[in-house]
Parts: sequence; C-alpha cells; structure tokens
Amino acid sequence: MLPFKSLTSSKQLTPEIIDQLFVVIDQMAASIESKGRIDLLDDKVVALLFFEPSSRTMMSFQSAAQRLKAGMVFAQNASNTSFEKGESLEDLIRMVEAYSDIIVMRHAQQGSADIAANISKVPFINAGDGGNEHPTQALIDAYTIHKEKGRLDSLNIVFGFDSLQSRSIHSLSRLLSQYVGNRFTFIGPKELEPNEQLLAELRASGTECLIADQVQLHDGYDVAYVNRLQEERFENREIFEENRRKYRLTKPDVENSGCLILDPLPRIDEICTEVDELENAVYFKQASYGVPVRMALLAMLLGKA
Ligand code: NCD
Repeated sequence: MLPFKSLTSSKQLTPEIIDQLFVVIDQMAASIESKGRIDLLDDKVVALLFFEPSSRTMMSFQSAAQRLKAGMVFAQNASNTSFEKGESLEDLIRMVEAYSDIIVMRHAQQGSADIAANISKVPFINAGDGGNEHPTQALIDAYTIHKEKGRLDSLNIVFGFDSLQSRSIHSLSRLLSQYVGNRFTFIGPKELEPNEQLLAELRASGTECLIADQVQLHDGYDVAYVNRLQEERFENREIFEENRRKYRLTKPDVENSGCLILDPLPRIDEICTEVDELENAVYFKQASYGVPVRMALLAMLLGKA
C-alpha cells in the first residue's frame, strides 16, 4: 500500500516507497511477459484526461490500464471538452470522479495537479502539469537507472538542456536528491538553468549541484539525462531559436564514455540518431518501462497490489 492517495510530485517517491514500487513493477513486467494481461482492475475505470500533447505517457497509461483489464474513459485536447465553454478544472474533476475510480491528468497549467488532487475523491495521478512536475516519468527514469546501474545513490549525473522548463528534469532531480551521494551538473544555455528555488531545494537535501555550459561525458559521468528544449514554454522565442541546435549529443560525445544516456522523449535536436546504436543509449528501453511502471502505480493506488 502507498501512504498517499494521489501522486502529484516526485517528492512523494521516497527511497522506501521506490523499493516497494520496484518490486511491484518487476511483478508487472513478469506478468506482461508470461500472460500479457491480468485481471487486477477488471472492476475499475481509469479516466485519462490529456489536455496537452502526449504520445508515450498517454499510450503507456492506456496500455497499462488495458493489461490490467480496467475500463477507460477519455478526454483529450482542451478544445474538445467543456473547458472551451469556460468550465473550471474543479468542476471537471467533480464530474470525472463520478465516472471513474482513478484520474490521470496532463494539463498545461503549473499547479493544476495539486488543485485536482485536492478536490478529487478518487485517487489522482499527475501526468505532467505545465513546466512543473512529471512524477510518473521520474519513476520510469529511476527504474531504468536502477536496472542499468544497480543503484540510485552515489551517481554523477548530468541534466540538460532545458533545466528551467523541463518537468521531467525537475521530477527526476527531486527524486534522486533523496538518495545520498549523488552529484548533479546542469548543462545548457545560461537562460535555461534551473531556477533558484529548485536549486535551493536540491541543495537543502544535501545534493551537490553544479552549473556548466557543456561537459565531457568521458570525465566520469554515470548518467546523462537530456530533454529537448521545451519549445511550447518559451516566452521569448529568440532564446529557443538561438539554442535549439547548439546543445546536442553526438556519437563521439557518448561512445566509450561509460555514461548512460536517458531521454524522456520525444527526441528533437538533443541527441543525434547515430547515438541510438550505442549500448549506453537506453532511451527506447526507458520508454518501454512506461507500461509496467504505470501498471504498478494504477494497481497500488487502487489498493490492488
Ligand atoms: C516529456 C513531457 O511531456 O514532459 N515527455 C514524456 O512524457 N515522455 C518530455 C517532453 O515533452 O519533452
């Protein structure tokens, strides 16, 4: 059982909870392998509300719900819903909770996940709230690192290239800051450094945080977590245009570095396709873990695992 009803921030994913979740994720992965589908949630309905574009997150939640034999209801694209008519998020959630047993929502507004979770009578999962947090992605990322490196502590980690606006970077750095001995280096353009509040929070947990323009991955880095510049979140488009192709991992950057390369995807300009064939490029494997990770979360939040 998880000690919370809803998941809105990766701060909730403490090392003890991660240990429990990893056991269930392994069980879900084994059941996909052996049976394809299991009937843990055949009496449940999952609501999937996606008011911002999504491929992986939405499809892996759908696949997870299908593999658990849950029913689903959907709302996609704010313009197809009553938001367009001016309905509030609060009213929307009051309605959706009557149609489902758990709500998964992606929304462009930072903080919308907390509002929805506070209102909802049924468990709520944040699938991305603006540039703020993406805790289920952080769990996928942590699971991937654990599988590949065998630990989540004492890691020398690079985050790039838009630490200001990438909710995936925010959530993973918050999750990993709860483990001892990790060191973070945030790389990318000056304008896209993490904000002071996040840095203060990470440092307060005892994590060493450095800022650099670029680094050599061959200099003893264990993990590079890169994400595209978040084009849709730029107030000043010029900053996006100036930097979009400047920060990109190439094959020589990555080959024989021993550094694991992760990316929540979609990949735009941040990694050359020639990197894909290298064995330390694990971003597609990482994306495949989305299904067992989200199965575990759905089942545990519904008290069925
Ligand atoms: C991320 C997101 O939506 O924040 N994608 C994802 O969920 N896998 C990263 C991104 O869009 O850049």
